[in-house]
Amino acid sequence: MSGVKLIHTKLIYYFHHIPKFNVQIISTKVINSNNSTNKTREKHNSLSFILVIFLILLFSPITHASQSSNDKILQGKKIINQSCIYCHQEDAIGKPGVAPSLTNKEFLSIASDKFLTATIREGRPGTGMPPFAHLADKIDSVVAYLRSKSKLPSRAKEIDQQAKAKGDALHGKHLFDKICAGCHGKNGDGYSAGGTGTAIGKVGFLSHASDGFMRTTIKEGRSNTRMRSFQGPAGLANLSDQEIDNIIAYLRTVPSK
Ligand code: HEC
Ligand code: HEC
Repeated sequence: MSGVKLIHTKLIYYFHHIPKFNVQIISTKVINSNNSTNKTREKHNSLSFILVIFLILLFSPITHASQSSNDKILQGKKIINQSCIYCHQEDAIGKPGVAPSLTNKEFLSIASDKFLTATIREGRPGTGMPPFAHLADKIDSVVAYLRSKSKLPSRAKEIDQQAKAKGDALHGKHLFDKICAGCHGKNGDGYSAGGTGTAIGKVGFLSHASDGFMRTTIKEGRSNTRMRSFQGPAGLANLSDQEIDNIIAYLRTVPSK
């Protein structure tokens, strides 16, 4: 009997770390053999043994894969704690006027891996965000760590495929100066203009952010930051889709670009 119990415990132990795997089914089958005669028990024992070997072979690559993705996340966390924490703070939650949050859930749900990688590699010229090209492949680990903090599914693909903004840049400038420049600075110059909003008029941001990325950020805002929603009755302003596109059209033409 102890042999069956041992296999049972081993099974539970082995599959403990494999998500979604239904240990219950296997363990119940093995436990049920308690009531069998010695012969059938032996049969069950050897069947269980074969089952264990089979499942070990089947899931080995998965445990390896999840181990290496865990290693990546740990490496990313280490890099963030060494190279980014000074500005982006503990857990990359950001600090107004110093650096934005990198773990904000709306941000992570709309930022593609490409956007994150390029921003980290190139930094944002003319802002406090330095380039980290020397991290080379390790940038993947930083992105993996940030992804491990995601609370919402990624929408980056559909958002980046949205149509380009078609709008009246002059009207957009009027709206920007009135509603956005207080935080994002004149021409979207960012913190250097004294506000708490990032440099959305500079090339470092504009060259990697799609119009869909900007549109969604303006519509939804970013929770727990000063970037609020600018659409709907709860918004800081209730801008129409066209007005939002006018602002994006303006940002694409700002002088500081
Ligand atoms: C009360 C201050 C405030 C106002 C007003 C404001 N923003 Fe923001 N915005 C922020 C902050 C702060 C962030 C970055 C969030 C963070 O710090 O984590 C941000 C982020 C953004 C981003 C994403 C930038 C990036 O670096 O990823 C866009 C796009 C944006 N804002 C557009 C606008 C537009 C357009 C307006 C006007 C309609 C506006 N914001 C008004 C504070 C503001
Ligand atoms: C010296 C301060 C500083 C350090 C160190 C720093 N950053 Fe930044 N980072 C910033 C600032 C400031 C911005 C916003 C720039 C702007 O105004 O557009 C930023 C923006 C970003 C953005 C864009 C966020 C958004 O809302 O669009 C990402 C991604 C980012 N940083 C990742 C990193 C990573 C990863 C590291 C460490 C490897 C790092 N940063 C280190 C200051 C810093």
